[in-house]
Amino acid sequence: MIKPYYISANKDFLLAHGNTFELLSEFNFKFDMIFADPPYFLSNGGISLQSGKIVCVNKGHWDKGKSIEEIDEFNLQWLSLCRDKLKENGTIWVSGTFHNIFSVATCLTKLGYKILNVITWQKSNPPANISCRFFTYSTEFIVWARKSPKVAHKYNYQLMKLINEGKQMTDVWKLPAIGRWEKSCGKHPTQKPLSLLTRIILASTDNNDWIFDPFSGSSTTGIAANLCHRKFAGIELDKDFCLMSKARREELNNPNVCADFRSRIPDLKRLPELGKDFLICEGSPNYYGKLPFEE
Ligand SMILES: C[S@@+](CC[C@H](N)C(=O)[O-])C[C@H]1O[C@@H](n2cnc3c(N)ncnc32)[C@H](O)[C@@H]1O
Repeated sequence: MIKPYYISANKDFLLAHGNTFELLSEFNFKFDMIFADPPYFLSNGGISLQSGKIVCVNKGHWDKGKSIEEIDEFNLQWLSLCRDKLKENGTIWVSGTFHNIFSVATCLTKLGYKILNVITWQKSNPPANISCRFFTYSTEFIVWARKSPKVAHKYNYQLMKLINEGKQMTDVWKLPAIGRWEKSCGKHPTQKPLSLLTRIILASTDNNDWIFDPFSGSSTTGIAANLCHRKFAGIELDKDFCLMSKARREELNNPNVCADFRSRIPDLKRLPELGKDFLICEGSPNYYGKLPFEE
């Protein structure tokens, strides 16, 4: 049985400390949506420029480079485990760069998922390229796929269109990299911005849906889920990142912090202007029914 590392007081945020490959099959639960930011296998001693300083790009032992065959095997395994835990109409979003995303897309197709879109996240403030021998890296990709080619998925088309000033939302999203205000509980080396996760969540889930992240890190997915009044379960291997996740979730117990975060995320800030159908209901916890893992 999965032992939770942390459960928020209103049970809308559950985190397990451990290895996704061992824990995932133990879930007796189906999720509405999965977001995964898996290792990109980029940590091979390279350098980059951050705030004017040359820094090593190594993220941690978990991100160390592997052979093409090992990367394919890794992706095939966790994507297969995730497919078993998705509802029939559920969707999965997987982020990456060219280093891993082609492997992810091939594995998704092999496993029977249907790819819906490949989002290009264009970073509005990318780090400079110090070698000056090729173009500045300014994008990441997020593959969106549904579990089954035959079962329709959720897409909040109207909401996305309204957020995009009345025009159909395209698959290129210009969003800033993570802001200083998002690091109030420390910084994860590959922390994703809340504005990216809230866009994904608003596009593909409804209030109260359950969202899962198999590589939670600092649990940006969980924080974004709760800011949108969705529920979250995650797994993270590193104890320090579990601690950071817990601190981030506890920060949200302060309504002023929630309000401040929402006001800094353009899509969430706009919701009240878009009409009552798109309001995220405030107030008491929405938890009901079975939990993905027990206390
Ligand atoms: C790319 S980071 C995710 C960052 C996250 N999206 C955030 O915003 O903080 C990947 C995370 O997966 C964790 N991880 C790597 N292998 C894992 C495994 N087998 N099981 C669970 N977590 C794992 C790493 O410790 C790391 O924190």
